[in-house]
Amino acid sequence: MYENFYNLAVSPFQNTPNPRFFFETEQHKEALAKLEYTVRNRRGFALITGEIGSGKTTLIRTLIRRLGGDARIALINNTRVSSHQLLKLIAIEFKIELPGVVDKATLLTSIRRFIEHQHSVGRTVVVIIDEGQCLNIDEFEEIRLLTNLESETDKLLQLLILGQPELRDTLRHPRLAPLIQRIVMYTHLMPMDFDSMTRYIAFRLVRASKDRPNVDFSREALELIYEYSKGVPRVTNLVCDNALLVGYSSESHLIDSAVIRRAISQMLPNFDGPTTDIFSDGAGLGQEIEDGRRL
Ligand SMILES: Nc1ncnc2c1ncn2[C@@H]1O[C@H](COP(=O)(O)OP(=O)(O)O)[C@@H](O)[C@H]1O
Ligand SMILES: [Mg+2]
Repeated sequence: MYENFYNLAVSPFQNTPNPRFFFETEQHKEALAKLEYTVRNRRGFALITGEIGSGKTTLIRTLIRRLGGDARIALINNTRVSSHQLLKLIAIEFKIELPGVVDKATLLTSIRRFIEHQHSVGRTVVVIIDEGQCLNIDEFEEIRLLTNLESETDKLLQLLILGQPELRDTLRHPRLAPLIQRIVMYTHLMPMDFDSMTRYIAFRLVRASKDRPNVDFSREALELIYEYSKGVPRVTNLVCDNALLVGYSSESHLIDSAVIRRAISQMLPNFDGPTTDIFSDGAGLGQEIEDGRRL
């Protein structure tokens, strides 16, 4: 909608884990390098935690793109499943042919055979579990059985688990000690600091632009964005996207603090802000209708 006005080819702040927009903050860069190292050198098991919106899924999508055809990858997003279903999902992702009804032992055997076969023809096999905080101890134990496979030099299965910080609580359970001892790399993704966030915004604008984005953010605007988003990429995207809309509606190429304030006040739902009673004096509602965007 505002793209043309700002000389953009696409919307720069979409909340999708698109590797094309992957910005290498120091820690995202380091985490990606470690993940890639773990997989390529067949080291076994890596773990990444981070709050919602910190970039875990984007990181994994970028890794998958980097690995290209070198690896066989099962990406599991849906973790609200039983351990049996989890194994079935892994088998489906690997395109392992299974009979209609299959018990757990057969599933495990089929997946193991698949892993061994891929290894014998020189391919790396990776299971990636996103949203790992939804898995319970039983499911992790099941996964551990798969990670037992190893040759004299390599782990046959590369396991990458990502999840929100509470994942650490599950993994601390004594029954999972054998699994935890296998972790070769662990990273907790922190929100961006102010400088990283500033470069992140500039990077996404340039990435989305035709040649050069026709928009500037004032220093005060950036400070307000940081104050609100605390450097979390997902929230930063939301604020910036709204800010461009607000700027566009007032035909401004400068995003200043007034634009950001307005953008934030219009972000619904704003659980941190004061409650909005649209029936109180008509001001809120009238404004929104006038803008023709929110209602
Ligand atoms: N390093 C990054 N580079 C570019 N965009 C990012 C980065 N990290 C996060 N994002 C953006 O923030 C949004 C939320 O990130 P996401 O990977 O979905 O977080 P999580 O999986 O940790 O909840 C993504 O849709 C993406 O647009
Ligand atoms: Mg995610």
